[in-house]
Amino acid sequence: MLNIAKAFKDTKSVKGPFHGACYDKVLEKYEGKEFNLLEIGIFRGDSLVAWHKCFPGAKIFGIDRAVGVGKGFPDISFATVMLGDQSYPPFMTKVAKDIGVIDVVIDDGGHFSDDQQVSFNCLWPVVRKGGVYIIEDLWAAEKNTVNGFECTLNFLEKLDIRKDFYEGFFEFKHDICVLYKD
Ligand SMILES: C[S@@+](CC[C@H](N)C(=O)[O-])C[C@H]1O[C@@H](n2cnc3c(N)ncnc32)[C@H](O)[C@@H]1O
Repeated sequence: MLNIAKAFKDTKSVKGPFHGACYDKVLEKYEGKEFNLLEIGIFRGDSLVAWHKCFPGAKIFGIDRAVGVGKGFPDISFATVMLGDQSYPPFMTKVAKDIGVIDVVIDDGGHFSDDQQVSFNCLWPVVRKGGVYIIEDLWAAEKNTVNGFECTLNFLEKLDIRKDFYEGFFEFKHDICVLYKD
C-alpha cells in the first residue's frame, strides 16, 4: 500500500501529510506500474526521491529554473531534469515535445498565475487519456496573479474538465486541484 506522506517525511520534502493523503488516493492506480511522472519545482530534489521510492517503475522527469546541488542534497540521477522557466511558453512547449506523453503532472513550482497557466496550457495536450494533472498551492495564486493572467482558481473553474479540489491547511479554500483527462 502506498504511504506517500511517509516518503515525503523520510526524504524531507516540503510536502506534508495533507499532500500525502491526497496523493495516496489520486495516484493509487499507478502503484507498481510503469508510467511517466513530471514534477515542476524540484528544490533540493527530495520529492523526486519520494516519487521514485513510491513508484519504482515510473520514469521521473523534473523541471526547475534553478536546481541546487549542495552538501546533503539527494542523488537524483534516476530522474531526467530539465532546467527552465515554467512560465516561458517556448520552454514548456519543448518539454511537452521531448517527453511526448505524460501520465502524471505535479505543479509544485512558482505558484504564480502565469507559472500555473502557461504550464497547464502547454502540457495538458500531452497528458495521456486517463492521466492526471495536479496543481498545488492554489491559494498562492489568489495573491500572485500576474498581468494578463487571472487567478488560477477562476481559470480552472471555467475549464470543462473533470476535477477535484482538496482542502489544505490554510484559510484559503481549494489548496490542490486534480484535473482528470477522461
Ligand atoms: C516549493 S519548491 C519545490 C519543492 C519540492 N517539490 C519538494 O516537495 O521538495 C518550488 C521550486 O519551484 C522552483 N520555481 C519557482 N518558480 C519557477 C519557474 N517560474 N519555473 C521553474 N521553476 C520554478 C523554485 O526554484 C523551487 O525550487
